[in-house]
Amino acid sequence: MAPAGLRTPAFAAACLAAILLAACGGGRPNAIGPSGGATGPAAGGIVRQYDLTAMAITVELEPGLKVQAWTYNGVTPGPELRGVVGDLLHVRLHNHLPTGTTIHWHGLDLPNGQDGVAGITQDAVAPGTSAVYSIRLTQAGTYWYHSHQDSAAQLDRGLYGALVVLPRGAPAPGVDRTLVYDEWPLGLELTRTPASTDAAMRSYVTTTVNGRTAGAVAPIAVAPGDPVRLRLINAGYFTHYVELPLAVTIAALDGHELNGGPPTGDAIPLGPGERVDLTFTAPARAFRVRLVDSYPPDRGAAVLVNPIATTGPEIAEPATHRLLDLLAYPASAADDRWLDGTAPSKTFQLTLSEISGMGPMPGMPAVDGVRYLIDGQAFPGTPTLHVALGDRVEIVFANQGTMEHTMHLHGHFFRVLERDGASPTGRIVKDTVRVPPGHSVTIGFLADNPGWWMIHCHQLLHAAGGMMALLAYDGAPRLANLGGTYFNNPD
Ligand code: C2O
Ligand code: CU
Repeated sequence: MAPAGLRTPAFAAACLAAILLAACGGGRPNAIGPSGGATGPAAGGIVRQYDLTAMAITVELEPGLKVQAWTYNGVTPGPELRGVVGDLLHVRLHNHLPTGTTIHWHGLDLPNGQDGVAGITQDAVAPGTSAVYSIRLTQAGTYWYHSHQDSAAQLDRGLYGALVVLPRGAPAPGVDRTLVYDEWPLGLELTRTPASTDAAMRSYVTTTVNGRTAGAVAPIAVAPGDPVRLRLINAGYFTHYVELPLAVTIAALDGHELNGGPPTGDAIPLGPGERVDLTFTAPARAFRVRLVDSYPPDRGAAVLVNPIATTGPEIAEPATHRLLDLLAYPASAADDRWLDGTAPSKTFQLTLSEISGMGPMPGMPAVDGVRYLIDGQAFPGTPTLHVALGDRVEIVFANQGTMEHTMHLHGHFFRVLERDGASPTGRIVKDTVRVPPGHSVTIGFLADNPGWWMIHCHQLLHAAGGMMALLAYDGAPRLANLGGTYFNNPD
C-alpha cells in the first residue's frame, strides 16, 4: 500500500477521470440527470429537436409594462413545442439561471426518469449546465411544460410553455391556436423580482394571454366557416372562467379527447394546470374570448377572433354568465381505461386542509404564514401512497379546507369517478381536477407506470406550502432525494 500522500500514477489517473466527472477532490458529486429516455421515434415518426435555454430577461407584457421574467429562450410562454404521436421529443435544456431548474412535462404518461421533478426523479440542473429529455410522444392532446424545481417561484416568473401533440394521420385541424393564461404580480416596475416572501408577490394584478395583456394580445385571424380549435392552458395560480359569445364544443379536457359533447355557451372554468380544448366554426362576425372572473382583476383579458372580411359589429357578450359544470358535461373520453364496474384494488383518502397563524415550525413549509396540508401534514411529512404494478387505484380527495385545491397526479391520467358520491354525467378523463372547499372528488386510474410520482395542488403556492404527496410503486427505485448538493426542492 502506498504511504499516505504518495499518489501512484494509477490513482492520479483515476482521480483525473473523476475530476472530469466532477467527483474528486471535494468537487460536486455527479448530478443525477433525466434517465430512461427514449432512443428514437416510433416507426413513421420523426425527431423533434429543441433547445430551451432557461434565462432571466426583461419582457414587456404590453408597451411600457415590464417584468423581470425567467423564460425559456427569452420569451414567456416559452416556445410552443409541437409534435405528432410517434415522434421523439428531444429537448436540450441549458440552464443560464442563477439557480437550479428542471423541466416537467405536465400530463404526459412518460418514464419516471423523464418526469423532471427535482428531488424525486432527478437533481436540479445546476446553473451553467445542461440536461437532455428524450420522450416518445404517445398521447395526442394539449399538454405543457414547466420547471419543477422551486416551481412556485419559477413558474410565477414565466418558466413554462405549451406542448401540443397531434394525432398521427389526422387531417389538418384548420385554425389551431393555444391560449396560455397567467397572472403577474405588483412590483413589475422593479428592477429585481421581489423575494418570494414579499407580500407584493401575492398581489396579482395583471392577467396575460400568451404573455401579453388584453390590449396587446394579437387577434386570431380566421375565415368565416373555418373549423377552429382553441387550446386553453392555465399556467397561473387562479381558476379562470373563459367565455365566448357563441356555442362551442368542449373537445378535450387535459388533452383527452371527448366524444359526443353538445355545444355550450356557458363560461368554462379553467383551474391551475388544467387545459380545455374548444372547437367551433368561425362565424362571419368578430368576437372576443374573454375572462369573466371576478378576481383577480383580469383587466378585461380578452382575445379578439377576427374573421377576414368581417361583416357587422362584434358579437356582443351575453349579459349574464352561466357557469359550466364539467362533471355534468355529457361527453365521453376516447381513452378512458377505467371500465364501468372496475373494483379498486387500493383506495386512499387524502384530506386537504389549510392552517394559518401558527408561526414557523421546523421542517414545515409555510407560505405567507399558511400551511397547506394533506392528512394534517405538510410535505415531506405527508403520507406516501404505495401501490403495486397492476393495481386499480382509487383516491378520494376530501377538501375540508376553505379554499379550492386543484389536484394533479403525475405520470398517469385518471377518470373522475365521483363528486360528493355522485358520478359525473360523462366519462371525464383528466390529470388535474378541481376540488372545491367542502367537497370531495374521487379519481380512479390503472397503476401501469412504475416509479415515484407527485400528487399535488397546482396552486403552486399551496404545493410550496406543503400540499404535496408521493405515489410510490413497490420495488421502484426513488431516483433522487430532496435537498443535497443541488438544493432539490420540487415546489
Ligand atoms: Cu404541472 Cu407537478 O406539475
Ligand atoms: Cu391548493
